[in-house]
Amino acid sequence: MKRLLLISTVLFCCVLLIVPATMAKAVKIRFTHVVSENTPKGWAANEFAARVNAALKGSYEVVVFPNSQLYDDNQAIEALSAGFVEMAAPSSAKFVGSVPALQLFDMPFLFPSIKTVHAVIDGEIGDEIRNMFVERKLGIKLMTFWDNAFKQFSSNVRPLLKRADFKGVKFRIMSSDVLEAQMSALGGVGLKLPFAEVYNALEQGVVDGQENTASNIYTKKFHEVQKYMTFSNHGYLGYAVIINQKFWDELPAEVQNTITKILTEVTALERQKAIELDQEQGQLIREYAEKSGKLKIFDLTPEQTTELQEAMKPVHDKFANVVPTKWIEKIKAME
Ligand code: LMR
Repeated sequence: MKRLLLISTVLFCCVLLIVPATMAKAVKIRFTHVVSENTPKGWAANEFAARVNAALKGSYEVVVFPNSQLYDDNQAIEALSAGFVEMAAPSSAKFVGSVPALQLFDMPFLFPSIKTVHAVIDGEIGDEIRNMFVERKLGIKLMTFWDNAFKQFSSNVRPLLKRADFKGVKFRIMSSDVLEAQMSALGGVGLKLPFAEVYNALEQGVVDGQENTASNIYTKKFHEVQKYMTFSNHGYLGYAVIINQKFWDELPAEVQNTITKILTEVTALERQKAIELDQEQGQLIREYAEKSGKLKIFDLTPEQTTELQEAMKPVHDKFANVVPTKWIEKIKAME
């Protein structure tokens, strides 16, 4: 009996030692982002993690940290470059200090459709951007681009339908200089704030308004602390999916291939998911407005759109030393 007890105790201890040892073997790939899981980026990060974790079971594990749990997007780029996290997907605006040419995607009313954005990303301009990441030796590898959608304006001051409505209105903007210029061009003021601070800033009146996509607005309840919202589709919001270069370079070739293949598959699915969520969550905001009576929704008429386009056009030429003019001209010729 004593012998049996001894054997079982030894076996139990072995199991205790072996199991954590095998579990500890999986190399963690920490993926940080700032938005909710029920958004295009949140969905894609989880889908990517699930697929990698199934394909590389036991040896690599993608762990996703949503909702700014680890870093806001500006910090995320520095943290990733320093190797504190392995992956992130900040919006183009957040690269103002590292790859400022990405502000191309922040240009107001430049892209007539998401299809044009894809043609740019998948074409020569996309290749030139990929090269910029290599040439700048940031310790960051650009893996792919993910979509969110076009942005909408909201405010607590008055409906935003024509240029004069923007006068003196203080907007939260992402960290892009192009977005700051966009707000000035309209007569408003842009205040750069991290995404995690937007709800409180709106609620407490630090800013009067904001611009973001339907999914970011809906999932973070910005519409519940705003009185007016205009579906303006005035600018694109999308992401550069990045990985720490050293971490990447040290991965075995077959692991790199698996990750690249999965990212390609997820990117294709994400493009569709982004369109679906934009429609779905835009509709949910409209339903909230109708039911609560606390939010008034506006859609720009073609004339109102033209007036705002004209007001914002000078921004396209203002950043010629940062965003190549030939890119802007090429995109305009694609319209
Ligand atoms: C923002 O700061 O508004 C966005 O960049 C958030 C995001 O990642 O979509």
